[in-house]
Amino acid sequence: MKVLREISEVRNARKQSRSTWGLVPTMGALHEGHLTLIRKSVEKCGETIVSIFVNPTQFGPNEDYEKYPRTVEEDLKKCEEAGASYVFLPTNQTIYGTEKPLVTLNVDKELTSILCGKSRPIHFNGVAQIVSILFNIAQPDVAFFGEKDYQQLTVIRKMVSDLHFPLEIVGVPTVREESGLARSSRNRYLSETELAVAPNIYKVMNIIKEKADALHAKNETVPVETLENEAKKMITELVPGSKIDYFEIRSTNDLRRSGNLSDDSRIFTAVYVGTTRLIDNLYIGK
Ligand code: PAJ
Repeated sequence: MKVLREISEVRNARKQSRSTWGLVPTMGALHEGHLTLIRKSVEKCGETIVSIFVNPTQFGPNEDYEKYPRTVEEDLKKCEEAGASYVFLPTNQTIYGTEKPLVTLNVDKELTSILCGKSRPIHFNGVAQIVSILFNIAQPDVAFFGEKDYQQLTVIRKMVSDLHFPLEIVGVPTVREESGLARSSRNRYLSETELAVAPNIYKVMNIIKEKADALHAKNETVPVETLENEAKKMITELVPGSKIDYFEIRSTNDLRRSGNLSDDSRIFTAVYVGTTRLIDNLYIGK
């Protein structure tokens, strides 16, 4: 496995390679979720390049950019074990230079003013910016993203289609702890007590899924608000010290809200457990 720090090194490696390239963009602090993406890429593509870059433009002014975990040495070991061919490890300067860019990407409000976009207004513009830059540098045939960040995956799929990036996007199902808690680099911020109650978010999502399954089986439907309110009540009780940012049922396909539970409904939630913001989602369609 080679560690590449310069754009020219990535371009040279790409030029010399006759294999298909898989790109796995990450911000490091790698866990089993990231490693599953890397392994999927290794399985599907001739060569896999993992990028590790904590992208400043997707963090708001009061978010955790400064304290975001940085564990490069361990990350490199894990990438090698998972079978990556290259790790791209750029600096801010390498990606963004020193001058303010003239051209940035602006993702339509329809997708980005809802769910995570509501409390993170610049987040998806920053994600679109860095992901398109990484696509231009690595020129992958396939890029892998986790369903854990479902809104991000939806934004990226739409961006690739709108801007005609010549590559395939593969979405990978959420990898969880045995407790059900979705793996996340931010889980390491949780105290022991918080870690004990955080899996209840997934439990509540599953209770709602069971209700949805029963309704689908009887061909009945209910207003999504009824299910959302039940869920919020349960989370407040089962996750002491939590604050719900949102718990919403929307369409899996376009994230639109429909009045009633439907065939392609999906739960989307973000919950502060203490000061740590955790996100998750679960398909509850037919
Ligand atoms: P990061 O949070 O490091 O995640 C990198 C990739 O790993 C994303 O596609 C994310 O969805 C996926 N991932 C994280 N946890 C996962 C889990 N438990 N199961 C499955 N996949 C999981 O997402 C980002 O970085 C950044 O926004 C990035 C796309 C790299 C742009 O900066």
